[in-house]
Amino acid sequence: SPLFGLSQICESGIGYCDSESVLSSKILIAGGTVVNADHQEVADVYVEDGVIVDVRPNIKVSDGVRIIDATGKFVMPGGIDPHTHLAMEFMGTETIDNFFSGQAAALAGGTTMHIDFVIPVQGSLSKGYEAYVEKAKLSCMDYGFHMAITKWDDTVSKEMEIMVKEKGINSFKFFMAYKGSLMISDELLLEGLKQCKSLGALAMVHAENGDAVFEGQKRMIELGITGPEGHALSRPPVLEGEATARAIRLAAFVNTPLYVVHVMSIDAMEEIARAQKSGQKVIGEPVVSGLVLDDSVLWDPDFITAAKFVMSPPIRAPGHGKALQAALSTGILKLVGTDHCTFNSTQKSFGIDDFRKIPNGVNGLEERMHLVWDTMVESGQLSVTDFVRVTSTECAKLFNIYPRKGAIRAGSDADIIIFNPNSTFHISASSHHSRSDTNVYEGRNGKGKVEVTIAGGKIVWENDELKVVPGSGKYISMPPFNYLYNGIDKADENYLTSLKAPVNRIKPSL
Ligand code: URP
Ligand code: ZN
Ligand code: ZN
Ligand code: ZN
Repeated sequence: SPLFGLSQICESGIGYCDSESVLSSKILIAGGTVVNADHQEVADVYVEDGVIVDVRPNIKVSDGVRIIDATGKFVMPGGIDPHTHLAMEFMGTETIDNFFSGQAAALAGGTTMHIDFVIPVQGSLSKGYEAYVEKAKLSCMDYGFHMAITKWDDTVSKEMEIMVKEKGINSFKFFMAYKGSLMISDELLLEGLKQCKSLGALAMVHAENGDAVFEGQKRMIELGITGPEGHALSRPPVLEGEATARAIRLAAFVNTPLYVVHVMSIDAMEEIARAQKSGQKVIGEPVVSGLVLDDSVLWDPDFITAAKFVMSPPIRAPGHGKALQAALSTGILKLVGTDHCTFNSTQKSFGIDDFRKIPNGVNGLEERMHLVWDTMVESGQLSVTDFVRVTSTECAKLFNIYPRKGAIRAGSDADIIIFNPNSTFHISASSHHSRSDTNVYEGRNGKGKVEVTIAGGKIVWENDELKVVPGSGKYISMPPFNYLYNGIDKADENYLTSLKAPVNRIKPSL
């Protein structure tokens, strides 16, 4: 309801605008450097009714068109975050950011679409889907859904087909950790991989050995290590490497593409690199926290300061982040997510006496674009076009919505940012748009700033002001059989042919 929307907005300090007329539907972005994943050039961008109509130098427009001067700035596709958890019920509580506050934060940071993970309700995909359709009614930007698979039977298998063929979901996540709640067995993973393949859906894994994590947690508690540092110590990189390797090998056995979410360690990254070298189709997704933070924060004497960094797989020792950055710059890792999954101090305090009860998750939706720019482009590890690729275009391609999303070109949705490389950003919980009272990037400054965000053809972020309307975001249906599926059938045919090759077996003389 509008009332709910308003109170929400006041609470988080976001400007409200209910009159569509104030938001011009015709916009000319003039004189900027238009950047796509494959090319950049100085050009104007003309937007009408939510769609990019024209991209070329010297576009002439009539009166009534809002003109934004972008001279000296980059005009890029809005960010797409492949990995978020908004309004997620998890570890006995619910994330503090819902589809409105999380998306408002995203827009303030230049992200104009995200893909959130639907969690089934009592194993039921359709019930989970319905629940997330309700949650997403607050949306103020475009979004899509992945879906987690948490149990296996014929109903689940059938529902996967319905999700792909009727509901616009083309990816399923399998949790190899969180024993006792979301964790699945290898047997289930195999069934899931087979069904993903038959539907042309992308299988995703949270790769940690959940049984060994459980053992590691017991070990820490027995040693009297109950603080947030126990979280990192209980689930070391070797457990992430093991599960990543296992998932990769099972995907090879089924011959289906695999997407490894939140790659946090050298161990996992090297398994991905090895598989890619052998020709396997494996995508690795680093998240911002894994790229820019290190685990020293988990030893902070202040509980909340340490607990806010608790996520799984854990933020690793210094060195892992640098290696993940290098892998992103060379293309081993393909796109950057956030795993935005926020809990406030009160919620993090559930684990004051036992790190196992600290709700797992960190923020990042608002910060991702700025931190990737500052960490990767300012350091010379990524070009500006590569920045667009890893923050937007690759995600659109993988989830099969390119070039509607992920490109500045005629016919694409008008999800656009104007980025000033000569300005600076500053991150603080006191000014961010998430509803959380903490920020894992508190106090960070860096180069570059998203000055304008246009989502669905409307200016939603300008002069550090948000103008967002709950309910204005659209669900983006995502079709199956992305580019990773090219050639999978040929490989299968060759495999079957090789099996059927006749053996001229010599009969034993009896
Ligand atoms: O700690 C995390 N990552 N929380 C969100 C759930 C998940 O594993 O992605
Ligand atoms: Zn996960
Ligand atoms: Zn996640
Ligand atoms: Zn603000």
